[in-house]
Amino acid sequence: MTTLAVADSTAAALPADCVVIGVVTSPGGPVPAPGAEAVSEAFGGGLAATLGSLGMTGAEGETLKLPAPAGLKAEMVLAVGLGEAADGGLPATEALRRAAGVAARVLTGTGRAALALPVATAEAAEAVALGGLLGAYAFTAYRAPGDREAPVGELVILAAEEVREEVAAGVRRGTVIGVETNRSRDLVNMPANHLTPEIFAATVRTAGEEYGLDVEVFDERALAEKSFGGILGVGQGSVRPPRLVRVAYRHPAARTTLAFVGKGITYDSGGISLKPVGFNEIMKRDMSGAAAVFAAVVAAARLGLRVGVTGWLALAENMPSGSATKPGDVLRMYGGKTVEVLNTDAEGRLVLADALVRAGEEEPDALVDVATLTAAMKMALGHRIFGVMSGDDAFRDQVVDAAGRAGEEAWPMPLPDQLRESLNSPVAEIANTGERMGGGLVAGLFLKEFVPDGVPWAHIDIAGPAFHEGAPYGYTPRGGTGSAVRTLVRLAEDAAAGALDRLGTYR
Ligand code: BES
Ligand code: MN
Ligand code: ZN
Repeated sequence: MTTLAVADSTAAALPADCVVIGVVTSPGGPVPAPGAEAVSEAFGGGLAATLGSLGMTGAEGETLKLPAPAGLKAEMVLAVGLGEAADGGLPATEALRRAAGVAARVLTGTGRAALALPVATAEAAEAVALGGLLGAYAFTAYRAPGDREAPVGELVILAAEEVREEVAAGVRRGTVIGVETNRSRDLVNMPANHLTPEIFAATVRTAGEEYGLDVEVFDERALAEKSFGGILGVGQGSVRPPRLVRVAYRHPAARTTLAFVGKGITYDSGGISLKPVGFNEIMKRDMSGAAAVFAAVVAAARLGLRVGVTGWLALAENMPSGSATKPGDVLRMYGGKTVEVLNTDAEGRLVLADALVRAGEEEPDALVDVATLTAAMKMALGHRIFGVMSGDDAFRDQVVDAAGRAGEEAWPMPLPDQLRESLNSPVAEIANTGERMGGGLVAGLFLKEFVPDGVPWAHIDIAGPAFHEGAPYGYTPRGGTGSAVRTLVRLAEDAAAGALDRLGTYR
């Protein structure tokens, strides 16, 4: 694993395999960013011209390796593009995260890298630490031993003496959030035969012991005893039984409690409404919501946020078999509502419904669910943006805003009343599918029926961004991305700071 450190020595004095500098674009050509002074000096003042003559512009995503000149105690200099400078030659926070991520990935196999990047504030230091850890990530658990190139060994963030403390604090935060985002990525990348509902629950228990979390696991017997018809109905086709996991962190001085609910379908075959070839080999990712919730609770605990955060993981494997739920079956959900299952592939909303009702019983100050819920949302917003829905536009916008500040792309989506009647069922209180057009919103309207009155609620559909299939970019690798972890952590921080003004407005 990649480790992080902070040093106040100048780039020239620190022995390392590589020194990383930032480069911003300017009308006159590439310009080394603040932090690169010692490296520039070692080049005798000609660094900008050298970068330009080798074709570097400073655009985001660009990298250029140079042999280190005499005077630096490093073998190599790696220049990374930061894009256009915002204020005073400094890049935007997200540009810094991405550049650190690109550098870490390029340095795979390298021992020690000194990062001479523009970090003069806690926020910038956090961005570099976080981007570095996220960019260094690779999922190699099942590769041949000889095919597992080690990630960069150590990233040493260079910072001026005067800002040393802020920088160290930022690096601590970035480290926790980076490690926890990578925790969720590992779970998403785990194949479904290695991550069953039972194993997922056991993983939460182990982490609970390590970080002092309160963990309660409802196994299939407990679920049956309490009539969790949605989770049981989805899980009953599989030989791997379902679980509902409650994992809670609470600061002793907490005044607000958030409940996060995650969709944890460890594999979604579609069930009897089987998915066609081409759609069923990607569905180990369908527990990304639960992975995000779990990681966010651990992060809140490790950061010691002054808040309560309760995670609910609705875990099941959706399989066809002689015991599976069939299209036309009616399930009685936790809380008593009946649902006609028209399509067994609309299973996420069924497990979430049970978990939302159960989470609501504890009267949290707000409820946020995260799910790879609909292909429709992926169609609508593509691979990098998640949709946020809520019955309360102001609360929805706070979630979208939190996402933006956390470096995640989010977009507000509506829950139009007129789509609700498409979910009417002639035999039960509601059907699990309705109008196909606007399918992501219809799914949101279904969930809304299970949110207790008086609790601000938002639904995050991460079907697009949970998993990245193209070439790596910025700090985003191939595979699980850890989508929504940072947004949930930011919401918990906002709640701790009393900055979520919809909390309590319903009571
Ligand atoms: N897990 C899928 C949604 C999904 C699709 C996530 C692609 C990530 C990538 C979900 O359970 C599902 O199958 N949804 C159906 C609902 C439909 C049957 C109403 C869908 O979106 O097609
Ligand atoms: Mn499905
Ligand atoms: Zn699904």
